[in-house]
Amino acid sequence: MASVEQKLLTTVSSTPEPPRNKVTVVGVGQVGMACAMSIILRDLCDELALVDVMEDRLKGEMMDLQHGSLFLKCPKIVADKDYAVTANSRLVVVTAGVRQQEGESRLNLVQRNVNVFKCIIPQIVKYSPNCTLIVVSNPVDVLTYVTWKLSGLPKHRVIGSGTNLDSARFRQMMAERFGIHASSFGGFVLGEHGDTSVPIWSGTNVAGMNLQKLNPEIGTDADKEKWKGVHKAVVDSAYEVIKLKGYTNWAIGLSVADLTESIVKNLSRVHPVSTMVKGMYGIGNEVFLSLPCVLNGGGVSSVINLSLMDDEVAQLKKSADTLWGIQKDLKDL
Ligand SMILES: NC(=O)c1ccc[n+]([C@@H]2O[C@H](COP(=O)([O-])OP(=O)(O)OC[C@H]3O[C@@H](n4cnc5c(N)ncnc54)[C@H](O)[C@@H]3O)[C@@H](O)[C@H]2O)c1
Repeated sequence: MASVEQKLLTTVSSTPEPPRNKVTVVGVGQVGMACAMSIILRDLCDELALVDVMEDRLKGEMMDLQHGSLFLKCPKIVADKDYAVTANSRLVVVTAGVRQQEGESRLNLVQRNVNVFKCIIPQIVKYSPNCTLIVVSNPVDVLTYVTWKLSGLPKHRVIGSGTNLDSARFRQMMAERFGIHASSFGGFVLGEHGDTSVPIWSGTNVAGMNLQKLNPEIGTDADKEKWKGVHKAVVDSAYEVIKLKGYTNWAIGLSVADLTESIVKNLSRVHPVSTMVKGMYGIGNEVFLSLPCVLNGGGVSSVINLSLMDDEVAQLKKSADTLWGIQKDLKDL
């Protein structure tokens, strides 16, 4: 007796179609789920895989998303703590990590996250040797270096979300002061993600009009218009949001989806992301810092060489030295 399926469907090809744009998100915390949600809402993957060590939460998040399938164009959503579920990913976003404990030093936190990454990264590469990795976990620049070392992947396929978020915040806050949309304000925050990020005032512009030409003191302490305060607000904003709601997630999720789009659609758009900068701007060590990078299907295809001011280069070098100071003491890489 034929089943309902057999009566309904005349099979033409029984070979399963492999995914073309499979995206994995490792870590289904606040940031991981915001990344996953932003990516699927922008129709950027035909399979989404989630991984975490917290099995109940992982299954719950998977089921909750699957129940929204009617409203999504991602036909397959899977999750498991076993990395076999991630096989053949085109892109893997790593948001897993442990948080700083009270009184814990930054170096100790980094070493604990290195130990977490030692479990995660080899498993990802085992199942998806051709993937591109986006690291989001903090401290993102150091952990991108750690991921590069642990993965054995070429440097162009290991990217840190870096100052992509800082730049988005900068553009939003600058644009707001002019009453225009963030996309119409041009400007980058580069270097280390977070407290020591470097606003590139020399490149700020609206419709090609350079703001430093209009106000040569823009961004300096001497500036009567106090534009420097916008960068301070960018740096403070993460702390402020964390104080108010406990974590940040929506903006980082949206910004990671934007990077994902450039990679899976091979767009060659320029984004400020963390890349290996040894040999650039006089930096001598293997550190990852954010510079404007062209992202396409293969990851970082090139880095834009900016004509930076001397103090901007000095700030980049200082960040590079600070990061190397942490990285050189890391064990078991
Ligand atoms: N780069 C940025 O701009 C940016 C912005 C916001 C947050 N972050 C960082 O993102 C990270 C995640 O933040 P969150 O708020 O989602 O934290 P969270 O605590 O909500 O989630 C972290 C998740 O990682 C999982 N995890 C821990 N160890 C794991 C392992 N070995 N394998 C798989 N999963 C594991 C945990 O179970 C948890 O679900 C933090 O490091 C945070 O600082 C970065």
